[in-house]
Amino acid sequence: MSDLEKQIADLKARLERKELEMQSIQQIGMTLSSVLNRDKLLILIMDEVTRLMHAERSTLFIVDNEKGELWSKIAQKAEIKEIHLKIGVGIAGHVAATGEVINIPDAYNDDRFDPTTDKKTGYRTRSILCMPIREPRKSDEEKGEIIGVLQVLNKVDGAFGKEDEELLKSLASQISISLVNSHLYTRLEGKLNELDLLFNIESKINTAAEVDELLSELIKLITTSMKSTAGLLLLNENDDAFFSKMYSHALNAENLPGSGVTAEDSILAKVTSDSPVYVCNDTSQDKNYKRSFISELGIETGHFICTALKTGSGIIGYLILMDKTEHHGYFSQSDEKMVESIASQIARGIQNMRLLEEKMKADRLATIGNMMSTIVHDLRTPMNNIYGFVDLMSEEESEETRQEYAGIINEQIKILTNMTTDVLDFAKGKTTILPAKYPVNKLVDEFTRFFKDDVERKGYKFESEVNTASMIYVDRDKVSRVFMNIMKNALEAMEPGGTFKLAAEEENGEIVFSLADTGSGIPPEIQDKLFDSFVTSGKEGGTGLGLAIVKKVVEEHKGRIEVHSKPGKGTTFKIYFPKL
Ligand SMILES: Nc1ncnc2c1ncn2[C@@H]1O[C@H](COP(=O)(O)OP(=O)(O)OP(=O)(O)O)[C@@H](O)[C@H]1O
Ligand SMILES: [Mg+2]
Repeated sequence: MSDLEKQIADLKARLERKELEMQSIQQIGMTLSSVLNRDKLLILIMDEVTRLMHAERSTLFIVDNEKGELWSKIAQKAEIKEIHLKIGVGIAGHVAATGEVINIPDAYNDDRFDPTTDKKTGYRTRSILCMPIREPRKSDEEKGEIIGVLQVLNKVDGAFGKEDEELLKSLASQISISLVNSHLYTRLEGKLNELDLLFNIESKINTAAEVDELLSELIKLITTSMKSTAGLLLLNENDDAFFSKMYSHALNAENLPGSGVTAEDSILAKVTSDSPVYVCNDTSQDKNYKRSFISELGIETGHFICTALKTGSGIIGYLILMDKTEHHGYFSQSDEKMVESIASQIARGIQNMRLLEEKMKADRLATIGNMMSTIVHDLRTPMNNIYGFVDLMSEEESEETRQEYAGIINEQIKILTNMTTDVLDFAKGKTTILPAKYPVNKLVDEFTRFFKDDVERKGYKFESEVNTASMIYVDRDKVSRVFMNIMKNALEAMEPGGTFKLAAEEENGEIVFSLADTGSGIPPEIQDKLFDSFVTSGKEGGTGLGLAIVKKVVEEHKGRIEVHSKPGKGTTFKIYFPKL
């Protein structure tokens, strides 16, 4: 072969190799752009780079300017481990700081090389090629910011040459695009998770019945959703100096400080209305931490975040999260913002619940006031009975009859006690009903008087019938509401011309109200859960709360409810109350 032929063959071979490389780079580009999960992406990039560069090992570091460090993940046996380096330290750190490309044929002859990792792992580094990965350029003049560092170790046959540098550069620009994509994706995913959490908190607040239960649930939700090791919520209940209510997740209840925490605590004092978040990412350097109750919570906290629950009238509590389960426990700026939003959401929720509770208390007291004459009137009957029988007793000779009277008096005292308990329960908000003695016929008549005309005007028939003169012990307004809800459904289930009938009679010592319609019947698919909240069928704008309220009120009266329904024929609801 002539020299010229040799040169041509050589060129051809190089051309073929270049083409192969180009194909591989394209291939990598395609694969990378389809992987959005950052951990997977990192590992995939490192594998591909090692293969293409004929090297032994490569590492892709991500630059975290907030913490001033580089981090990466390495696959070790079945585990994925995170590694961290300071920007400016070691070869990769130097590249991150300066943006230089470093190509070293023999690491141990270069001052910038730090052999610590080799010593730890037993690996022997020889050649290193390390270059920055920059953000894709927006224009030709502008150099993109350094977002990563790609480091390739030990070329299999000798040191890295100029061609290797060129190849790695092409790879770096492909990688840069996928990193930016995956970064955007991760941020988007994070934002979605944050929105999800805020939404979940909001719906818990909206459906909660009481603050205690709400906060116990919330601290669990927040701790786990914020990927923290433990969480604590402190609340001030009584407008005194103490934050004595505590709700925790993953903390040993025995380690909680009880009622002794005040805003004077060395950490809590740092959290003010003006600077509502205190973040500590190294408790060993934090003097306040050592004096704070947080250090005694029974977990070795290296990092924590503490924020105030602020309302218009001041700080009503604190939310504290400890050690993230990822990123070495470190709380980031976005965690800070998130925790602040959560805290203000909770504070608002608690305040609203407290206001609502106060209003309900006032309403209940007003109701008691209005009903005072009825209550006193109801109390009078058993009292008179007691007087009467005490009188009789004092004159009664026969021991047996006296025993009988004593029995009657006991019964009457029981009735009295029950009545006062009912009033107290209502005042305390334990029940929503305030019962009083009421004639059955009056209940039916009043309801009829109120609704008959209206219903008939709409084209339905309204019938009512009472076959008893008995009394029952009910909250009249609440029972009318029960009738109303059932009647509303009945009318909705009938065509005009249909009949609604309200009747009351005595049956085995009980009073039975029956409310019947000649409508379509209950749809079979909801029969079993008819009285559950939010069960609705076949209506626009139905909340499905009507019958749930009915059932609650009936049960608070210690009554029960039955439903009998035939498709196409009609439905009858039967409500049983104890007779007086
Ligand atoms: N008398 C009835 N005849 C036929 N179906 C009924 C009758 N009563 C209730 N239902 C069915 O039970 C469902 C639940 O009733 P419920 O009163 O709890 O809620 P809703 O009527 O859908 O909503 P809302 O009461 O808020 O208007 C109704 O949607 C309806 O399908
Ligand atoms: Mg209804």
